[in-house]
Amino acid sequence: MAKINENYLKLQAGYLFPEIGRRVSEFIEANPDKKVIKMGIGDVTQPLVPSVVKAFHEGVDEMAKGETFKGYGPEQGYAFLREAIAKHSYQEKGIDISADEIFVSDGSKCDTGNIQEIFGNDNKIAICDPVYPVYADTTVMSGKTGTCQANGHYEGIIYMPCTKENGFIPELPTETPDLIFLCYPNNPTGTVASKEELKKWVDYAIEKNAIILYDAAYEAFITEDGIPRSIYEIEGAKKVAIEFRSFSKTAGFTGTRCAITVIPNELVAYDSEGQAHQVKKLWNRRQSTKFNGVSYPVQKAAAAIYTEEGKKEVEEVIAYYLENAKIMRESLAEIGYEVYGGVNAPYVWVKTKNNMTSWDFFDKVLNEANLVGTPGSGFGPAGEGYFRFSAFADRENVLEAMERVKNLA
Ligand code: MLT
Repeated sequence: MAKINENYLKLQAGYLFPEIGRRVSEFIEANPDKKVIKMGIGDVTQPLVPSVVKAFHEGVDEMAKGETFKGYGPEQGYAFLREAIAKHSYQEKGIDISADEIFVSDGSKCDTGNIQEIFGNDNKIAICDPVYPVYADTTVMSGKTGTCQANGHYEGIIYMPCTKENGFIPELPTETPDLIFLCYPNNPTGTVASKEELKKWVDYAIEKNAIILYDAAYEAFITEDGIPRSIYEIEGAKKVAIEFRSFSKTAGFTGTRCAITVIPNELVAYDSEGQAHQVKKLWNRRQSTKFNGVSYPVQKAAAAIYTEEGKKEVEEVIAYYLENAKIMRESLAEIGYEVYGGVNAPYVWVKTKNNMTSWDFFDKVLNEANLVGTPGSGFGPAGEGYFRFSAFADRENVLEAMERVKNLA
C-alpha cells in the first residue's frame, strides 16, 4: 500500500496565491462585464528589456546550429553567468563572493524551499510573521513541525512578529533557532533592514551557530543610500548566511525563470557528532542529483542584464514600478490609510480602516472596486488587519485602481 508523506496533511488549505486566484476567477465568472485590476500576486507586467530579448534570441539561434548547440549544461550554471553575477552583483560592490559560491537555479521559491532538504529535521526554524508563505509551508512539508494550531501557527516553528511597533523588523527570539529565514526588502511589508539591524542578526547567528537564509529577491528595488543589498555587506555574514537572489523581480523573469543561491565556502553545518560539513558541498550534491540546470538561452538572457545597456534598461523598469509604488503610497495616505513600505520595495502594506479583517477588506475591494490585493492575514496571523498591494502593474491600472479606492464607501 502506497503511503503519503503525512506532513502534507498538516498544511492549511491551499497555497495563498492560487486561493486568491480561485476567488477572483469566481468573481469574474459571476461579473463578466467588470474590469478587474490585479495587484495581488507580485507578478511583473512589463516585458523583458531589449538587451535581454536580444540575448535570449541569440541563445535560441545557437541552439539551432550544430556548431553551437548545447545539451545538458553544468548543474550549477554556466561559468559566464556565475562570473558575471560574482563580478557585478558582489565584487564591484566590495563584497568578496566568487563564481564558485554561486548556484544558478530556476527560482528562489524553489531554492528557499529545497534548501531545507540538506538540513536535518531536528533544526528549529525561525520565521517572521507575516512571512512569504513558502518558508513556512516548506518547513512543514520537510517534517520539521507539528500540526497547525488555532492561531494559524505551526507547532515547532519559532515565529517572530513583525509589527508596526517594531518597524516590521523582528526582535531576536527568546527560543534559540538553528535556521533563520529573513527577507529584506521584505515581502510582504515592503520594509527594509538597516546595516545595524542586519548586523544584530549576523552577530546572533555567529553566537548561536545558526544559519541565516536570507532572501534578497527584491534587492534591486533599494534606492536609498546606506541600506544593505546583500547580507554579505555585514562583517562575518559569510560564515553564517546563504543568500537567495532572483532575476524574476529584478528583470521581469517570473515567466522566464532564473535565480541564484549563494553559499559561501566557509559556511558549515554540523552532524550529530559535532563534525562540521561544508554546506556548499551538500547543496552541490543535491543540485547535481536532482537538477539539470537552467536552459542555455535563459542563462544567456540573464547575463545580458550586466551589460551596460541591459543594466540601464532594467533600472528603468525598476524605476517605473517604484513610481507606481509612490503613487499608491501617496494616494492611499491621502485618503487616510496608514501605509508602510513601497519606498525601497514593490509592495505597499496598508492597515485596513476600522479594524476590518484582511479577508473582509479583500472582499470589499474586489466587490466594490473590482480590485485584487493580498490579504495580510494570508501571510500569517500578525498580518491580520493589513492588506498588500503589489506595484508590479501597468501605470494606467495603478491610476485607475487608486481612483476606485478613493471612491470606496
Ligand atoms: C508574492 O506575490 O509574494 C510573490 O510574487 C510570490 C513569489 O515570488 O513567489
